[in-house]
Amino acid sequence: MAACHAPLTLPELDRETPFVAPMDLPATPGLPELLTLSTGERVQTERDWLEARRPEIARTMEHYVYGTAPEPPSETRATVMEERLTEDGKAWREQVRLHLDEGISIDLLVYTPVGVERAPCFLGLNFWGNHATTHDPMVLLSESWVPSSRGGQDGKANDAQRGKRADRWDYEQAISRGWAVATLYHGDIDPDTWTTDDGIRGPRAKSERLVPGPHSWGTLRAWAWGLSRALDHLVENPRIDGDRVVVHGHSRNGKTALVAGAYDERFAGVISNHSGCGGAALSRPARGETVERIVRVLGYWFTEDFWSFADREEHLPLDQHFLLALIAPRPLLVCSAIEDEWADPLGEYQAVEAAAPAWALFGIDDFKAAGFPETGDLVGTVPAYHVREGGHSVVSEDWTLWIDWADQFAR
Ligand code: GCU
Repeated sequence: MAACHAPLTLPELDRETPFVAPMDLPATPGLPELLTLSTGERVQTERDWLEARRPEIARTMEHYVYGTAPEPPSETRATVMEERLTEDGKAWREQVRLHLDEGISIDLLVYTPVGVERAPCFLGLNFWGNHATTHDPMVLLSESWVPSSRGGQDGKANDAQRGKRADRWDYEQAISRGWAVATLYHGDIDPDTWTTDDGIRGPRAKSERLVPGPHSWGTLRAWAWGLSRALDHLVENPRIDGDRVVVHGHSRNGKTALVAGAYDERFAGVISNHSGCGGAALSRPARGETVERIVRVLGYWFTEDFWSFADREEHLPLDQHFLLALIAPRPLLVCSAIEDEWADPLGEYQAVEAAAPAWALFGIDDFKAAGFPETGDLVGTVPAYHVREGGHSVVSEDWTLWIDWADQFAR
């Protein structure tokens, strides 16, 4: 991104120091301190943050919440399935299959604007399959399992699903404003179920590097890892500027966008939309969706350690402001909708407020907390928080906001 910071290198995580078992952790009713090291020392400089506190936080979040992910593969084999101009001649459509492991592959759909040299790009997961994000009949049907709740028939994608989620993917606006958009179905990486049979976490994943272990990845971390594999491909795409890829997502995909941005510093910016519990919303207030509810119904998204904090949020040695702070000093935008109480807009705002001191260490301090904002107000630039009217969804106006915001860094 133009005003962007040089890529940082994530220091090696110290995986040796033992962790305290969740049930033995003391209660901390207030938020755990962002800028105090486990030794009790205060973090005062960028260097303290990058070399000491950030690795501690990265490791704590993966241990107790998201799980560890395997090392990236040295190479991801790609098969270009299709590449041509869209019918209106305004964009290139590329469909590429990235082979993650034996029998497990991601189908990445990429639209890039014609006439823009090395376009910035939004990358995000979708819920129903690439073909449901657009009415473009050339988009390949997903070959992964699709649940009936998302229009799958006998577990399979089908033509009736085409365009069913197109209202949430404003490709036209993005292309006309010079942005590329890339998406992939999260079910290509890991199915959204308790059973892992089909996904990268399951028994079909043959490579040793993918074998699950204690504290190994839940589904959110696996999806985030898949986004990084998509990024591996985008950085090689000559029509895209790999230094200006913004990862975004709605709801569970918004949680995933935060995890992806936190653990892969190649992402130039991060946008979460209505990500809620396990995403941008603080866990301690236990408003809207609580840790108890999310682990009971969707526990496979997390490590088993996280399950121990059901109704014991105050024992968490972390809270979600830690996840947001891992994105510093890169741009972060957290979006809420005022009627989406399940995602706890106030908790999302408070997490940004509590994470902002990490950016301040880098001299970026324009997030001026002045209480929960009016709907429609954008608070801060980096990090930024926005709450709009309405409920849990993605609308074209969201894309307008995301592009306006990202244009400040990427153009
Ligand atoms: C459920 C879940 C949320 C999640 C949402 C979604 O409501 O409880 O945590 O964000 O689904 O992904 O749509």
